[in-house]
Amino acid sequence: MAEARRVLITGASSGIGRHAARRMEQEGHRLTLICRNHQRAAESLDWIDPTTRVLEADLADLEQVDTLCATLLQEQEPIDALVLNAGLQYAGHRQPRWSRQGIELTLAVNHLAHQLMLMRLLPLLLQADEPRVVITASEVHNPTSGGGRVGSPAGLGDLAGLRSGAGSAMVDGKERFDADKAYKDSKLCNLLMGQELARNQPRLPVIAWSPGLVIPRSQDGFFRESRRANPLGQTLFGVVARDLLRLTESIENAGDLLTRLVLQLNAQPGFQYWSNSLTRPGQHRFEPTAPSAEACDPETATELWRLSDHLIATALADQC
Ligand SMILES: NC(=O)c1ccc[n+]([C@@H]2O[C@H](COP(=O)([O-])OP(=O)(O)OC[C@H]3O[C@@H](n4cnc5c(N)ncnc54)[C@H](OP(=O)(O)O)[C@@H]3O)[C@@H](O)[C@H]2O)c1
Repeated sequence: MAEARRVLITGASSGIGRHAARRMEQEGHRLTLICRNHQRAAESLDWIDPTTRVLEADLADLEQVDTLCATLLQEQEPIDALVLNAGLQYAGHRQPRWSRQGIELTLAVNHLAHQLMLMRLLPLLLQADEPRVVITASEVHNPTSGGGRVGSPAGLGDLAGLRSGAGSAMVDGKERFDADKAYKDSKLCNLLMGQELARNQPRLPVIAWSPGLVIPRSQDGFFRESRRANPLGQTLFGVVARDLLRLTESIENAGDLLTRLVLQLNAQPGFQYWSNSLTRPGQHRFEPTAPSAEACDPETATELWRLSDHLIATALADQC
């Protein structure tokens, strides 16, 4: 077996991350799983062995994320791979939901919690001999991609919503909430965040990736909230996209791709984006891909990082 790597992963209690974590554990790597709470850990992590560690942090609460990072920093154990995989969407719902600090939930969990982890845990990554960061993004960040063309396209505008702080429904400052666009925007933030990190840490490989459309047969998983908003429509969507048109990737394959990026890819310092694109029904190709034009804009990336840092700091200070 290759040398055991120390992997810290968010979003391993379900779906793609759960399958990947299981695979990495079976291969003998040393995992730390970040799970939202004790109950969720008990329900979903029945497979783990005693060498795998579970730490609790609800990513919708920046204070819990900050406390988690403080614990890890105190232990001073280097991190070989930081895998930022947790994510949610609640497309189909009309009203925004809010994190503990009053930030729209998709942005708070998918982007801000992960930027906070990156900022705080960077010293532990840099202590490792061959560190890497892997970020689960999505092709929907790109308005010209298949998924990105459906509904309102991703776009952060001049970041007016982020600039105005907690309480904004949309990053671009628009007042009308659009849950589907909020998700696309959060994934655009993931790509910009990764590129800004790579620019500022030239020794660090940063890999963002897109798994393709993954629709589980079970009632839980990624489409659980959308199913609550529109049970019939979402069931039909699942059957048509997955079973008739064969547009989807399986959880197992997507989890294997994530495992590959974490453990096998010969990652060079700098940023790369891999996409698992549909080439024809039932067939995907996983390859390095150019992110959207907006995702490659260095000025937006720098400003997004700065404003996110500011919002995180303000939100944490308000808790004191
Ligand atoms: N499925 C797709 O079609 C698709 C396509 C493109 C990209 N992605 C991305 O792939 C990643 C994994 O998605 P998936 O399909 O595996 O979905 P999933 O089965 O719903 O898994 C999402 C994971 O994120 C965790 N999470 C969500 N909110 C959290 C919170 N507040 N605190 C802590 N953990 C939280 C979930 O924890 P709980 O189990 O406690 O909820 C779960 O472990 C996400 O980043 C998603 O955006 C998915």
